[in-house]
Amino acid sequence: MKLSLNNTGDFSRWLNCADKKELCYAIRYFCEDADAEEQSALRLSANRLQQKYYGKRIYFRGLLEFSSCCKNNCYYCGLRKSNGSATRYRLTGKEILDCCQAGYLLGFRTFVLQSGEDRYFTDARLCCIVSAIKERFPDCAVTLSVGERSRESYQALFASGADRYLLRHETADEEHYGKLHPKELSLQNRKRCLYTLKDIGYQVGAGFMVDSPYQTYETLAEDFLFLRELEPHMIGIGPFIPHKDTRFAGFYHPSSQHTLILLSLIRIMLPKVLLPATTALSTVDPLGREKGLKAGANVVMPNLSPAAHRKDYAIYDNKVYTGEEAAEGLSCLSHQIVSAGFTPDFSRGDYIDLQKESRSK
Ligand code: 5AD
Ligand code: SF4
Repeated sequence: MKLSLNNTGDFSRWLNCADKKELCYAIRYFCEDADAEEQSALRLSANRLQQKYYGKRIYFRGLLEFSSCCKNNCYYCGLRKSNGSATRYRLTGKEILDCCQAGYLLGFRTFVLQSGEDRYFTDARLCCIVSAIKERFPDCAVTLSVGERSRESYQALFASGADRYLLRHETADEEHYGKLHPKELSLQNRKRCLYTLKDIGYQVGAGFMVDSPYQTYETLAEDFLFLRELEPHMIGIGPFIPHKDTRFAGFYHPSSQHTLILLSLIRIMLPKVLLPATTALSTVDPLGREKGLKAGANVVMPNLSPAAHRKDYAIYDNKVYTGEEAAEGLSCLSHQIVSAGFTPDFSRGDYIDLQKESRSK
């Protein structure tokens, strides 16, 4: 098989019809065999498609990590319940609103509320926080990233004003899922949550870690098949980074290389998707964010969490803290984006076909 990037549209169509074996071949090819010229052609194709739908705009989201407590035990994560060395914190509703206020003044119009699966945040508590944010900042979007919950819970949060939901599927391969999670967690339930969220009307984000333990080109091909089927509005991918208090401590040295290639392939397969250049990517590579944007990513998520707690949201080791929540840091990030040839955009930045989708419902 010979892969040709001469025509981006053709390659995009090919990625959308390819079977598992062909996807596996394409992913392996770009990760292992493609020379610098082919890799640069891949990035260029991804960029062209990104521009076709979103122009040169890079969307800003304000990230609020509001609780580091978690009832789960994902084997790869520093916040897992049985990590006794993790420092746990929980922001109050007022602290969350204060962070949003500060973010609003800096220009943010999307707030991403992320936490471990913390039982303290019942539907009643979380709905109250979401509706308070929406009441105070009606022109803003609220994105939740709080894990697996029941349909009723997702429905109640949507009714209280949440617009979007991020829930990475982590891996779409059953066996691989079982090597990363204890038996209480299942891929089946994760998928059920994602389809439910979509059905309710959220803009939905799925995603996975790149170079996670036991990941293969086959499991990645399975991820691509699943993403193609789910058609999420957002996809979060970033390099796996070992955490010292997990069984995968020192597993191997993380790098940005594969994430950058997969960002481009995902952009070409699902050209309209909102795709962040993640903190994990900046953590493993000081130029990670810029490289990510040039590879097809079109979202950045500066951290708005209170400085006092930031180091405690330790999913992995050495997480970078770049100080972008402060006005100076933010303008520095904006400059970086402009120098890379893009335009910072602080609007809500909804998925491009959203209006079309809701009209057809
Ligand atoms: N390295 C990189 N990403 C991680 N995540 C959890 N642990 C790690 C790690 N060690 C990611 C998971 C999760 C998200 C919140 O963070 O994909 O969904
Ligand atoms: Fe909890 Fe999420 Fe970490 Fe799993 S990945 S242990 S659900 S914080």
